[in-house]
Amino acid sequence: MNQKLESKRKVCVTGASGFLASWLIKRLLLSGYHVTGTVRDPGNEKKLAHLWRLEGAKERLRLVKADLMEEGSFDDAILGCHGVFHSASPTEILEPAVEGTLNVLRSCKKNPSLRRVVLTSSSSAVRVRPEGDFASNVPLDESSWSCVELCETLQIWYPLSKILAEKAAWDFCKENGIHLVTILPSFVIGPSLPPDLCSTASDVLGLLKGETEKFKWHGRMGYVHINDVALCHILVYEHESAHGRYLCSSTVLDNNELASLLSARYPSLPIPARFEQLGRPHYEMNTSKIESLGFKFKSIQEMFDDCIASLVEQGHLPAL
Ligand SMILES: NC(=O)c1ccc[n+]([C@@H]2O[C@H](COP(=O)([O-])OP(=O)(O)OC[C@H]3O[C@@H](n4cnc5c(N)ncnc54)[C@H](OP(=O)(O)O)[C@@H]3O)[C@@H](O)[C@H]2O)c1
Repeated sequence: MNQKLESKRKVCVTGASGFLASWLIKRLLLSGYHVTGTVRDPGNEKKLAHLWRLEGAKERLRLVKADLMEEGSFDDAILGCHGVFHSASPTEILEPAVEGTLNVLRSCKKNPSLRRVVLTSSSSAVRVRPEGDFASNVPLDESSWSCVELCETLQIWYPLSKILAEKAAWDFCKENGIHLVTILPSFVIGPSLPPDLCSTASDVLGLLKGETEKFKWHGRMGYVHINDVALCHILVYEHESAHGRYLCSSTVLDNNELASLLSARYPSLPIPARFEQLGRPHYEMNTSKIESLGFKFKSIQEMFDDCIASLVEQGHLPAL
């Protein structure tokens, strides 16, 4: 490949050690990209070993130190990259999520090679809306924004941080002529590459071991395979006409529906029979925008089959 073409395949992924970013890096390397991943502690071999084991990593992965809370920290990692996938996100902390996103975007602005930024937002920036505020028979699509006041009243800081960070990103990119596309995944299910389970992966393990607390709060929730989330990020980066926000979700289910599907499929696991119902509004999600780019989501069965097989393999669950 000549030098010019090769540089077009240079991308940066922030928060490289994370659940989703690790899988995204795996798919980018498999597609031939040169990837610079940012991590807070490049010296932590145990936390990063899974990335160095990925196919193509030795030849085309570079890991550099960057922190969302340090101004200019991402300059070096981003300089010379054509694409930036901003996935790092401090959970449940408002100011770092917004400031950190702007910090990454300021580094993007300084980079003359930049072609497109793909920001990982969340379906929680779309679906947290009060009863009666939307027609429950019309599926929510990318035109919907979660309600800031409702998040504040319910004191749910994660959705609030995703709404504020995504809005700040749109404003900054419009003002500065940066081509931004956002991916809004629902709850991500699938094998975890990092050695420690992130909070969403531990919540799933808890459910499979019979805990009700976390999934009680889910009420109704969309689910999506981690491989699909990674592929959607790459699709909207590569597709010339991709623009705006993209919901990324396969199936929306009530927690009771999910539990009965899972307990019928995995009868040896102590999956809870029922959850206390919290009276949340019914909604569906319209994912035709990403599907119109040719994408097809894996089923709920496939995502849990893959997730459970990997939890068994990693010793988190006994063999079924
Ligand atoms: N998991 C889901 O179900 C889900 C659903 C929708 C959207 N998302 C979004 O997907 C993205 C990735 O989430 P995830 O589930 O993969 O979470 P994760 O495994 O916890 O990864 C988050 C990453 O962010 C990095 N990070 C945290 N604070 C940082 C800071 N101050 N500076 C630099 N990096 C920092 C961490 O890096 P270090 O390892 O260096 O600390 C970590 O690798 C997030 O934006 C999340 O909101 C996730």
